[in-house]
Order: sequence, then C-alpha cells, then structure tokens
Amino acid sequence: MTDLSYKRYSFTTGFSPLKIITDKFNFPQDSQDNFIIPASDILVKIHYASLNPVDSKLHHTSFFQPFSNHGMGKDFSGEVIAVGGNITKFKIGDLVQGFHPGVLTNDGTFSEYLLVKTNMWFLNTEITKIPSNITLKEAAAWPLVLGTAMLMIDGLSIKDKKVLLLGGATSVGRYVTQLLRIEGAEEIVVSCSPRSQELVSELGATRIINYRENVLNQVLDNVRDKPFDYIFDCWGGTELFSNLDTILAKKGTYHTIVGDIPGSDFGSFVSIVQVGLIGLKSTLLMDK
Ligand SMILES: NC(=O)c1ccc[n+]([C@@H]2O[C@H](COP(=O)([O-])OP(=O)(O)OC[C@H]3O[C@@H](n4cnc5c(N)ncnc54)[C@H](OP(=O)(O)O)[C@@H]3O)[C@@H](O)[C@H]2O)c1
Repeated sequence: MTDLSYKRYSFTTGFSPLKIITDKFNFPQDSQDNFIIPASDILVKIHYASLNPVDSKLHHTSFFQPFSNHGMGKDFSGEVIAVGGNITKFKIGDLVQGFHPGVLTNDGTFSEYLLVKTNMWFLNTEITKIPSNITLKEAAAWPLVLGTAMLMIDGLSIKDKKVLLLGGATSVGRYVTQLLRIEGAEEIVVSCSPRSQELVSELGATRIINYRENVLNQVLDNVRDKPFDYIFDCWGGTELFSNLDTILAKKGTYHTIVGDIPGSDFGSFVSIVQVGLIGLKSTLLMDK
C-alpha cells in the first residue's frame, strides 16, 4: 500500500474558519506504479476549481455534523490518474471536468486530488472529458452554473414561446438567456439593472425590465398583448404571485431555483432548503 498525501480546504462547523488540511489516500500500486483503486472510482488530480455562492452558503449552515473535515468546492477540472476496474469511459491521462456534490462524501474540489465515486446511491458526481477547444481553466468555470441553467429548461418546449426571465444577469441567468435564444424562444423578456442591459441583450434578451423600478408594473405592461408561457426565476421572491393569472398563459409554468426569499445570499439558500429544493434538479414548478 502506498500513501498519497494531499492538501485540501476544509471546515468543521458552520462557524469555524476554512483551513488547509493534509489528508491521504492509501492504495496498492500495480507494476507500472499506477494506483489500484475501488472498481467504480476515478482518481482525479485537480487542476482548477471554481467558487460558487453555494460553496459559501453550505459552509455557513449548521446542517453539517461537527467533528468531520467537510470539503469545499463543487466545480472542477483535472487529469485522471487512476481508474477502477469497472470504469470504461475514462482512462489514465484523460482531461476531465465536472460537478462534485460532495455533500455525502465530506470532500470537495478545493483539493489536490478528488476520488470520484460513480456508484453513489444519491448525488453522483457528474464527470466528462473536456472538449478539445477549451482550456482546463475554462472547463472548471461552468459545470454547476450551466448545469443548473440546462435543468431549468430541461424537457420544456421553448421554440416560439414567450418567456420571462427574472435575474438575467445572475450567473445562471446569463446561461438561461443564451439557451432560450438557441432553443428559439420568440420573446425573451429579462430583468436586470441598467449596467447589465447591453450584455444581457447581446446574450439574447429581446426586451429588458429594469428591476430597480417597479417590476410588477413592467411585467404587466409586457403581457398586454399576450401572457408568458414560462417564467424562469433566477433571483427569487413572490412579487408576481398574486398576478400570475394575468401574467402566465393557461398551462404556463413558473420555475425557480431560489424560492421565496430573493437573492444569492444565505437567506435565499435557507429559502431553497425550506421549500425542499436542494440539489441540481431544484426547480419549483407551478402549473397554472
Ligand atoms: N450559481 C449557481 O450555480 C446556482 C445554482 C443553483 C441555484 N443558484 C441560486 O440562484 C440564485 C442566483 O445565484 P447566481 O450565482 O446565479 O447569482 P449571482 O451571480 O450572485 O447574481 C448576482 C446578480 O444578480 C442581479 N440582481 C441583483 N438584484 C436583482 C433583482 N432584484 N432582480 C434581478 N436580478 C438581480 C445583479 O445583476 P445586475 O444588477 O447586473 O442586473 C447581480 O449581478 C441564488 O439564490 C443561488 O443560490 C445558483
């Protein structure tokens, strides 16, 4: 057996600071010095990891048991350095990227190495090879954010639909806007502040609502001719709820990744947990 010592960021409770700790894996090696790891696992040497609001929010919950070294970080890119016997899609040397939930495994991607378990019963790590036209740095930047955006519209027929997107300049909203344009939405009405109007329009918004002014009035102005088929909410809140009969078409749906408490701070995270919407498929759907 050989020890593989590595450093990683960790915390023990919602109130303790982040610190760098040294951990180790202990695996036998084959005749070519490759690690022999469990059959369904993939050992990745992390090159890049990116920071998401959820990393900080999870750190500051008391949801985690104390006395364990919990991990930080979900997005990653890196190089495969060992594969288990059941792994057929990856080999040593592959450059990979992914999203690692890490909630049940006490580890994270702010680490020199990550042992990806592909046979978890819940919250599996998403891992895929990096396309040849992006760098390792770029590859770590978007799995959770783009993945959330993709799941928001997953299974919905977008072509020729009229769509309202609340929070178009949030990190998820920027991807949702582009996906809506690619999927052929007829109208993409997006809320953002004046500083992001130009960017959001370049990404695909056909009309802008300034959230610094009365949002409900502007939304109502936008449904004089036709109601929205979908509302995608990347910012949260309940401001439109009492007028949904007017704002949404019959059979129209409202999808939120935030919940009742708006924002990307800790309160909005509690709001997500309160409505039981945790995890990548956290879309609340209100069918009118
Ligand atoms: N990041 C993820 O992968 C992810 C995944 C799942 C869920 N979420 C949840 O989604 C929410 C947004 O997170 P995020 O990381 O995408 O956001 P973010 O990037 O932190 O959003 C910040 C942006 O929100 C915009 N904003 C501020 N007030 C607003 C308002 N009243 N209405 C609309 N937009 C407003 C501002 O844009 P402008 O002023 O420039 O317009 C600001 O730049 C959070 O609650 C988060 O927990 C995020």
